[in-house]
Parts: sequence; C-alpha cells; structure tokens
Amino acid sequence: MNAAVFDAGEFRKALGAFATGVTIITTRAADGTPVGLTANSFNSVSLNPPLVLWSLANSSASLEVFRNAEHWAVHVLATDQEDLSGRFAKRGIDKFAGLECDTGAGGVPLLRGCTARFECRTAFQYEGGDHLIFVGEVQAFDRAESAPLVFHGGRYAHATHRDAPGLQPRTAHLAGSFSEDFLGYLLGRSHFRFFAPLREALDGEGLSDMEFYVLSTLTLKPELTAQELADGMAGVLDDRRKAALDSLVGREMASYRNDGVIAYELTEHGREVALRLISRAKALESQVIERLGPDAAILKSLLNRLLAEIDPSAATLWQAP
Ligand SMILES: Cc1cc2nc3c(=O)[nH]c(=O)nc-3n(C[C@H](O)[C@H](O)[C@H](O)COP(=O)(O)O)c2cc1C
Repeated sequence: MNAAVFDAGEFRKALGAFATGVTIITTRAADGTPVGLTANSFNSVSLNPPLVLWSLANSSASLEVFRNAEHWAVHVLATDQEDLSGRFAKRGIDKFAGLECDTGAGGVPLLRGCTARFECRTAFQYEGGDHLIFVGEVQAFDRAESAPLVFHGGRYAHATHRDAPGLQPRTAHLAGSFSEDFLGYLLGRSHFRFFAPLREALDGEGLSDMEFYVLSTLTLKPELTAQELADGMAGVLDDRRKAALDSLVGREMASYRNDGVIAYELTEHGREVALRLISRAKALESQVIERLGPDAAILKSLLNRLLAEIDPSAATLWQAP
C-alpha cells in the first residue's frame, strides 16, 4: 500500500476535529493481572447483533493480553473522570491501584462511576495498519444519567445539549440583538433573577446586595484585613465596599480593630445573619442546579474560565478547611 505523504501532525489535528467520548477498556490477563487503557477509538457497529469496536495501537504494552482475551469491557467515562482517563493513558504504573472494581464475565474488572459500561466477548479481530481492531459482541451493559467526558482537538471538553428539553431556545432568534444577545445582559439578568428570591430575605434583614456580599465574604475567615478584603473583592466597587463595611459595623454585624492594620470580623449576630442568608442562597442554587442538570457543572466551569480571563489577579480568600 502506498503511504500518502501527509504531515503527521496535521493529520492528527484533522482527526482530532472529530469529537469523541472517552472510554477505558479493561480485561484480565491469563495470570489474573487486571489490564486496561484509555481509548477514544470506540464506536458502535451493529444493533442486532449488538456489536461495538475499538482499536489498539500495535505498540501498546497490553496488545498480547487483549489479543488473547475472550472478554473485555468498555467504560464510557463521565465528565468527572478525567483523572481516571489520565491514569489509564499512562504506561508502566499500576493503573488499578486503590480502585474498587466490580467483576464481570471472564473475571474482567469493571470500573465504577461511569456513564455507561459494555461487557463484551471478542467477536473479530482485524489488522488495521498500526492498530489492531477489536469487534466485540455486547453481552451486558449498564448506564447512568451522568454527563459524558468528551475529547476534542487533543483536549478534554464538555458536552451540553443545545436546547433544554421543553424550552424554546432563547438564543436562536435573539442572536445579533445587542441587548438580549449581549453577554453583559445575559450575565446581569441571570444574576438579577438568580438573586431575586434572596433579595426578599435581604430586605427582611435591611441589607443591600453589597452589604450581603461583604457579610458573606467575612464568613470565609475568622478575621480579614481591609487589604485582604480589597484584594479578594478586587475591582468590585471599592467605595461601596467601604460604605457596606461601615454600615455592618454600625449595625453590630461586624467589628473592626485598627492597631496599625485594619481588620474586620463578624460579630455573633453578624455570623448568624450571614449563615441564615447563605443557607437561603445555597437552597436557591440547588433549585437552579436541579433544573440545569449536568449542564450546571458546565456553566460553572465556563464562568470560572470567564473569571480567569477577565479577573486573573483576583485573590482567593477561601481556604480549604
Ligand atoms: C483520550 C485518549 C484516547 C486514547 N485512545 C487510544 C486508542 O483508541 N487506542 C490506543 O491504542 N491508545 C489510545 N490512547 C493512548 C493509550 O491510552 C496509551 O498509549 C496507554 O499508555 C496505553 O497503555 P498500555 O501501553 O499500558 O496498553 C488514548 C489516550 C488518550 C488520552
């Protein structure tokens, strides 16, 4: 066969334009050792009989084991299993160390927490250039509702549906409209609507949005210096932050000391009000998360990315307990 003269890097990039899920294929060697690797060459072949395929590089350390294996299992990874994908794409380590597995047909180790699992019996093997193609007959499978991990352009990615079930897509007819398609409008309106129910609770306590923002920031540490507050809330309305601090002190929700360094802490009353409002905010968040389903994680990831782009110097006040 004449090899076409391709730039190998460009060819890889062009192949990487095809977004795939990520799987881990596992089996058990004749001596009982569990074996597995990350593969995105998985695909469905036939519904009846139920057949799937994947391909294994001839250079793989697992080649002989899979060549001789009667059974293997395909695990479609969930979006939170990126670490597992990385682990099974490494060579020369004990990939199964510390993992709790189920056992499938032929003693095949079955990983947990995946979006779907297919237990297969080898039906055919084909030579395919520098890979060996395995076609398996699916003997059992299971599935969860979790969002899948995606691989695209050589990087991990998220999958999200373009339309929410039962809802009219807003963006289709609004695209191009300055007001309603404008990112600032979408962010601002989302913020406003998200916090609307909380605003009633804030009104009940006589607190402004800014006072609540400062109050909840003060719960992050037993004491925050004025400088830490300024850094942590960087660029967020400096004057209004100072006014909010004064007002909280005036209403005995916070106290401050000034022995060369100005530092603020919540009073018992302030902490009690803050915790009550924060639990209300958390409850609102869970309602929204429930409605968005797995897309909530994607939204958070995108907003974090947006903040990394437009607010890269923001200090992190929150410390893991
Ligand atoms: C997202 C992703 C997809 C991969 N897909 C495949 C694949 O389809 N086939 C393959 O042979 N290797 C694939 N690899 C590379 C193997 O996981 C990697 O070479 C691994 O070290 C092989 O392990 P082994 O040598 O222990 O068998 C992929 C790696 C990643 C990160």
